[in-house]
Order: sequence, then structure tokens, then C-alpha cells
Amino acid sequence: MNARITQESGTPDSGKQDAGQNDAIVQFQRTGFRYGPENEALREINLDLQRGGFYFLTGPSGAGKSTLLKLMYLALRPTRGKVRLFGTDIGTAPREALPHLRRKIGVVFQDFRLLPHLTVAENVALPFRVKDESSENYQDDVAELLHWVGLGSRLHALPNTLSGGEQQRVAIARAVVCKPSLLIADEPTGNVDPAMGAKLMRLFVELHRYGTTVVIATHDLELVRRSGAPVIRIEAGQVVGEMA
Ligand SMILES: Nc1ncnc2c1ncn2[C@@H]1O[C@H](COP(=O)(O)OP(=O)(O)OP(=O)(O)O)[C@@H](O)[C@H]1O
Ligand SMILES: [Mg+2]
Repeated sequence: MNARITQESGTPDSGKQDAGQNDAIVQFQRTGFRYGPENEALREINLDLQRGGFYFLTGPSGAGKSTLLKLMYLALRPTRGKVRLFGTDIGTAPREALPHLRRKIGVVFQDFRLLPHLTVAENVALPFRVKDESSENYQDDVAELLHWVGLGSRLHALPNTLSGGEQQRVAIARAVVCKPSLLIADEPTGNVDPAMGAKLMRLFVELHRYGTTVVIATHDLELVRRSGAPVIRIEAGQVVGEMA
């Protein structure tokens, strides 16, 4: 049952249903992940996320949402089955192939992971610095985005002087600033008020409109309902359903 449901789950628009496997930007095939012999976090995940799709991932705390996302952003490799990203099998790809894939992915971590010794603006500029771009090329974009998320006056602040919700907005700005092919956000609105949550969602929707595939893990069912995007639900390490 799991396989059937999940095979169909990557279809935000019904017209894309026949797009075939080649159009999948993320594919899980009988994928499992164990943190240890007694700790099986994911089992038999079969999932195709289509290029250009917008997906929510929900489920109770401890269900395996963050683990599933970590496999998507290459922080973990599967202990069973396959994960394919942009058509590359990450279980068998040579290590040298992975940084190239990583650069196509923007990640909002559940715990933000801002670098404490860098300012807000420097943190957001990191994806450009990794690519060795000159600061003239991105400074304005970084400042504009930080203004948009309400942090225009905090560009030169250090992360530990910000509130949790402010740090979360910096993390989101850093993930989207390079217009990644794939945006993976783990509870990106968990620390902000509903109005800011709605505003941040507009940022994700805008990014999606320009072609980014978006995957958001969230407990915020109101956010999910309002968006109308497909929802993948996992419980105890397995996909248990999909709502379009
Ligand atoms: N680094 C780790 N080492 C060992 N076990 C882990 C580790 N990270 C997660 N787990 C376990 O794997 C299971 C899935 O955890 P995961 O973080 O993926 O859940 P989640 O759905 O993201 O939960 P939440 O909604 O609380 O963020 C849980 O049982 C958790 O205890
Ligand atoms: Mg989590």
C-alpha cells in the first residue's frame, strides 16, 4: 500500500501525473535509514518528487521528517534502498560528485545553523562565498532580501543577539538567496508569529514560481490547508498517506 500511495504522491498538478521517472528531482526507492541497530528511523520509503513541485511533509514528532530531509540534502546516505537526486544515485556516486549536487540545494535547518562569528549579512551571503563570487555581485540581493524579511536594520548584527524567530528568518534568507533548484525547509515557520509565517510562505511560493522545487516539513496544518499543495504524511518512519 505504501508503495502505491507514494508512487503517486509527487504530483502537485494532475497533468504531471504521467511525467515519468525522468522528471523526478528526488526519488526514494525502498529507502530505509537506521541511526543504529535498534533505531530504524525510516522504512521502505517510495517517493517521487517531481521537478517544479511544491510539497509539504507532515507527521508527529519523531516520525522521521528531518531524517527524510537529511537524506534529500545529503547529510545522510541511506542504509537500505536508493535515493536519487537530480538523477544521481547518492548511495553509489563518488564523493567528488556530491558538492556539485549540494550547491543546487538550499536548506533551512530545523536548528538554523547560523555561523556565530559571522554577521547576519555574511551568513546570508555564504552560498555566494562558497561559489567564490565577488561581493559586488550579491551584496544588494542580500540586503534586499533581509529587508524583505524584516531584518534590514540587523545586517551587521551577530546571530546570538537575535531572537529565535529572527534567526529563523536569516536561515531562510540564506537558503533562498541563490535561487536553488531544490529548497528543503525543516519547520521554517516554527518560531515566528502567524503573520510572519504567512509572509515567509509567500517567499517560498515566489521561489517556486521561478522554478524551484520546494519541500517543507511542518506541523502547521493551517499553513498546509491554506496552500492547497500536496501533503506527504509520515508516521513511525513510513509514508502513510498523501493528500492533494
Ligand atoms: N542523530 C540521531 N541519532 C539517533 N537517533 C536519531 C537521531 N536523529 C533522530 N533520531 C531518531 O530518529 C527518529 C526520527 O527523528 P526525526 O528527527 O527524523 O523526526 P521528526 O519527524 O523530524 O521529528 P520532529 O517533528 O520532532 O522534528 C526519532 O525516533 C529520533 O529519536
Ligand atoms: Mg524534525
